[in-house]
Amino acid sequence: MIQRIAELRDEARAAIVAATTTGELEELRVRYLGRKAELPNVLRGIAQLPPEQRGPTGKAANQARQALEAQIAQRGEQLAGDELEDRLRDDAVDVTLPGSPAQQVGGLHLLTSTRREIEDVFLGLGFKIAEGPEVETVYYNFDALNHAPTHPARGLMDTFYVSDEVLLRTHTSPMQIRAMQAEPPPLYVIVPGRVYRRDSDATHTPQFHQIEGLAVDEDITLSDLKGTLLAFARAIFGPDREVRLRPHFFPFTEPSVEVDVSCFNCKHGTLRDGSRCPVCKGTQWLEILGSGMVDPNVFAHVAEHGYDPERVQGFAFGLGIERIAMLKHAVPDLRLFYDNDVRFLEQFA
Ligand code: DAH
Repeated sequence: MIQRIAELRDEARAAIVAATTTGELEELRVRYLGRKAELPNVLRGIAQLPPEQRGPTGKAANQARQALEAQIAQRGEQLAGDELEDRLRDDAVDVTLPGSPAQQVGGLHLLTSTRREIEDVFLGLGFKIAEGPEVETVYYNFDALNHAPTHPARGLMDTFYVSDEVLLRTHTSPMQIRAMQAEPPPLYVIVPGRVYRRDSDATHTPQFHQIEGLAVDEDITLSDLKGTLLAFARAIFGPDREVRLRPHFFPFTEPSVEVDVSCFNCKHGTLRDGSRCPVCKGTQWLEILGSGMVDPNVFAHVAEHGYDPERVQGFAFGLGIERIAMLKHAVPDLRLFYDNDVRFLEQFA
């Protein structure tokens, strides 16, 4: 028995020396000194031994237990010290490192990100981007675009005039003329920009944004227009969208159409719970823009730049960036775009 005690003690000693963590050490304590361990069992069984063996065996076992306890305590202190040092080293803050990166300040305004998104679609279709003056002449804004002398948009009620001949453009359409003067067909161009009208309520602000589109080539038809706008509608409002053209009137296109996109928010005008869709008001369609085939009278103004009305055809369209953003993101009031309330802006940044 005394022999066995010595074996156990030596085995335990070697294991304690080899332990590398306080956790391992705790396991060894349980294994050699715990309730079910062999050494304490020897001590508990002393009474069953023949009387002459009790003294020496008890002594050996006690000594072994005390020696192991002392060794575990000492090794434990050592390991705990090492571990603390490791932790301190790992957690140390290196004050010579550069500070954490600056918080991102701001983000794109929803109108900017919407404009860029729309531009990307048309760039992908082969259009290029042009910009033009916000202070325009009556000629480019109205006359060259075939507005009758009596057209109501010409009136002081609707238009900001700088002088009799100069105004703040009421639409981006005057750039149709300027773009055609600048280069001969074929021409595929879009024109983003600010426009101005004397209007102010929940759906009108005196200044807002449009994107004009113009494609002029030989053999352009209304189906080219429809296909182009279908690609646009699907890119912006989702791949399942359809478009429909409704007859309309604009002075500078013939025929003219208003273009609707199928509602992206509902099926057949109703929501799942059976209520009327608030986005399309149950109509299943959303009006997104005006367009049409360029009126030959418009080409007549730029015929000397290579736009012979007998040879070329074209389509044009004009859309409101605010309108597209409001539809897509369910923005209820146009004025939110201009209030600069970060609680609104942050939702889209
Ligand atoms: N300029 C028109 C407006 O502001 C929109 C528009 C309609 C533009 C038809 C077009 C077009 O190019 O073909 O109401």
